[in-house]
Amino acid sequence: MSMHAQFRRRYRLDETPVHFTLNGVLETGRRGDTVLTAILSVSGRLRQSEFTGEDRAGFCLIGACQDCYVMMADGRRVRACSTALEPGMAFTTDLGAMAEVAHE
Ligand code: FES
Repeated sequence: MSMHAQFRRRYRLDETPVHFTLNGVLETGRRGDTVLTAILSVSGRLRQSEFTGEDRAGFCLIGACQDCYVMMADGRRVRACSTALEPGMAFTTDLGAMAEVAHE
């Protein structure tokens, strides 16, 4: 199933590209993006809830609610709304893949 991106980038289109991986797929954000901005600019969800499986897209967007934690491929978790995107970051946001990372 194809999901449309939640965010449409309208500004800074010519900003330096920053490559990252989302569930194994190479994606491109922009310098200055937060992790949340980068993911929602290419995906319909930020992550799946580990409790209900529902799609989540963050809530407060100011670092106060903890709804935006995403798992990195190395098992670390980052708060997407207040973490700057860095080149080479790899995120695992699908429930099945998160379970695999957690058990490695
Ligand atoms: S969306 Fe609330 S802490 Fe990130």
